[in-house]
Amino acid sequence: MKVLIINGPNLNLLGTRQPDVYGATSFEFYYENLKKTFHQVELEYFQSNVEGFIIDKLHEVGFSYDGIILNAGAYTHTSIAIADAISAISTPVIEVHISNVHKREPFRHHSYLSSVCKGVIVGFGLDGYRLALEAIL
Ligand code: DQA
Repeated sequence: MKVLIINGPNLNLLGTRQPDVYGATSFEFYYENLKKTFHQVELEYFQSNVEGFIIDKLHEVGFSYDGIILNAGAYTHTSIAIADAISAISTPVIEVHISNVHKREPFRHHSYLSSVCKGVIVGFGLDGYRLALEAIL
């Protein structure tokens, strides 16, 4: 089973970025533990701050992998292009947000991605990525 986690803009700064909102753990640290817990899964990780690179990655893996876990960061609220890419591929995509976006500013309440994703996990911190993986399994 092949699963790719994609993190979008500013999520490379997890651990140092607004720890009150996103926690104090780096994604790299969390990811190493996730790989150990789910050693039976071929898990990969990709992060980019560039919208087009995220779209390229969705195209690259979106016809052969079993699942994609996507936290598109702020592109969630702006990107019709990422929504179109998700619609164009056959691999199911699960949308994840670390924070509860519905408790935050109104501009974070709308997602262009939710309606084209298999499901959405919001507000459970980094544990959301594990929950998404459980859902794919
Ligand atoms: C986020 C929520 C987004 O609104 C924000 O722009 C992010 C992170 C989250 O994981 O909570 O970058 O996707």
